[in-house]
Amino acid sequence: MKMLVALLLVFVFGNTIGVLGQDSKEQCKFKPKLEPRPHSVSIVEFGAVGDGKTLNTGAFQNAIFYLNSFADKGGAQLYVPPGKWLTGRSRYRSLINGYNLNDVVVTGSFWWDSFMSHTLNHSRPHLVEIVGSNGVVVSNLTFLNAPAYNIHPVYCSHVLVQNISAHAPPTSPYTVGVVPDSSDHVCIESCNISMGYDAITLKSGWDEYGIAYERPTTRVQIKEVNLQASAGSAVAFGSEMSGGISHVLLENLHVTNSFTGIAFRTAVGRGGYIKNIEVSSVKMENIHTAIIATGQSEFHPDQKYDPSALPVLDQITINEVTGVNITVAGIFTGIKNSPFEFTLSDISLSLNAASSSTSAWVCSDVVGSSKSVSPDPCPELKSSSLSNSTSSEGLASYL
Ligand SMILES: *[C@@H]1O[C@H](CO)[C@@H](O)[C@H](O)[C@H]1NC(C)=O
Ligand SMILES: *[C@@H]1O[C@H](CO)[C@@H](O)[C@H](O)[C@H]1NC(C)=O
Ligand SMILES: *[C@@H]1O[C@H](CO)[C@@H](O)[C@H](O)[C@H]1NC(C)=O
Ligand SMILES: *[C@@H]1O[C@H](CO)[C@@H](O)[C@H](O)[C@H]1NC(C)=O
Ligand SMILES: *[C@@H]1O[C@H](CO)[C@@H](O)[C@H](O)[C@H]1NC(C)=O
Ligand SMILES: *[C@@H]1O[C@H](CO)[C@@H](O)[C@H](O)[C@H]1NC(C)=O
Repeated sequence: MKMLVALLLVFVFGNTIGVLGQDSKEQCKFKPKLEPRPHSVSIVEFGAVGDGKTLNTGAFQNAIFYLNSFADKGGAQLYVPPGKWLTGRSRYRSLINGYNLNDVVVTGSFWWDSFMSHTLNHSRPHLVEIVGSNGVVVSNLTFLNAPAYNIHPVYCSHVLVQNISAHAPPTSPYTVGVVPDSSDHVCIESCNISMGYDAITLKSGWDEYGIAYERPTTRVQIKEVNLQASAGSAVAFGSEMSGGISHVLLENLHVTNSFTGIAFRTAVGRGGYIKNIEVSSVKMENIHTAIIATGQSEFHPDQKYDPSALPVLDQITINEVTGVNITVAGIFTGIKNSPFEFTLSDISLSLNAASSSTSAWVCSDVVGSSKSVSPDPCPELKSSSLSNSTSSEGLASYL
C-alpha cells in the first residue's frame, strides 16, 4: 500500500521531438530543453498533499488525465514539489501510463506477498509505463517499492532517464528498475538502482511475436550508474530480444552485491540479435558471476515458436572491468549453430575463496578474443581469428 514518491518529480508529456539529437554520437550528450511546456501544472492544484500520510491516488489520476489532453498541443508538464507523495492502489494498472495516461496504481508488500503465494491473478503493474511516445524525460525522482518494473518505455524514441533512484527490497521477486523495450535513442544516466531482480534490462519482443513486429532496441547509452541486482543482473540484455538489440554503450558502471554483473540472455526460437554492444569501465564488488551469456533462457510464450529461429550474438566488446569478491568470472554458453562472439580486454577479477580456479570461466559455443584478462579465460575466448570483426568499426560512429 505504500508508494512513496520522495523529493522532486518532473515528468514531461507530449511531443518534444528532437530533444535528443538524431545525429548525436552519444545519446546522453543531448539534454532536453526544459522550457516550460505550454501547459504546466503542479500536483498541488489537484489537491494532493505531500505529507507521507495523505493518499493522493485521485489527484495523480486527475492530473495525468488532464495533462494527457494536451499531449498533442505542444506537451504538458506535471510538477510535483518536494515531499513524500503516497499513492494508493486503485486498479491493476501502472501509476503513470503514457499510452492512456489515465490511471494510478499502488504498490507495496501486497504485491510481493501475492506474487509469491501465486494468488495474484493479474499481471503486476509497472510504475511508469510509456508506450509509443517520443521525447520522454523521467528525472529527479525517487521510486520506492514498485511492484514490478519501475520505468518501462515501450515503442518509444528519445527517452531520458536521469538522476533517479529506484529501490525495492533484495527479496522482492522480479522487480526491475528501468526496462527500455523496443525503444531507440535512450539515455540512462546518473541513477542509483537497487532491485530484487535486474537493475536495468533491455528488451525487444518475444519469439515469433517479436520477430514479426521487428522493432529493435537501439542507440542506447547508459552511464554513471550505481546498480545492485540481488537475484538477477545489474544490466541484462534479453532474454526477450527477438526484435534485436544493437548499438548500446554502457560506461562507468558501479555494480555491487549482485548475482550477475552483465548478462546476455537468449534462446533458440528467439531469432533477432544482440550486436554492436560496448561495455566499458565497470567496477564490481561482491558479485557471484561477473559476466554471463546464455543461449538457454528457454522460456517461450507458447509452443508456436520457430526452433530454427536462432539468435545472433555478435560484436560484443567488454573492456576495463575490475572486480573484487567474485565467485565466477564468466559463463558463456552459446547456441550450437549460432555461436556467440565476444571480445574481452583489460579485465581483472579477483576471485573469492568460494570460487574454483578450474571453473572460473565456463565456455561452450562461443568464439572470441581477449587481451589482458585475468584470470586467464577459456581457450574459446583466446582465438584471434575473429578479432578483426569488432575492432575496425568503432561503436561510437553508430550512436
Ligand atoms: C483468475 O482469472 C480467470 C480468468 O480471468 C478467472 O476465470 C478466475 O476466476 C480468476 N481467479 C481468481 C482467483 O480470481
Ligand atoms: C537530482 O534530483 C534531486 C531530487 O531528487 C535534486 O535535489 C538534485 O538537485 C538533482 N541533481 C541534479 C544534478 O539534477
Ligand atoms: C533536476 O534538478 C536539477 C536541480 O534542481 C535541475 O537543474 C534540472 O533541470 C532538473 N531536471 C529536470 C529534467 O527537470
Ligand atoms: C547516488 O548515490 C551517490 C553516492 O551515494 C550520490 O552521491 C548520488 O547523489 C545518488 N544519486 C541519486 C540520483 O540518488
Ligand atoms: C562477497 O560476496 C558475497 C556475495 O557474492 C557476499 O555474500 C559476501 O559477504 C562478500 N564478502 C565480503 C567479504 O564482502
Ligand atoms: C578479417 O578482415 C579481412 C579484411 O577486412 C576479411 O577479408 C576477413 O574475412 C576478416 N576475417 C574474419 C574472420 O572476419
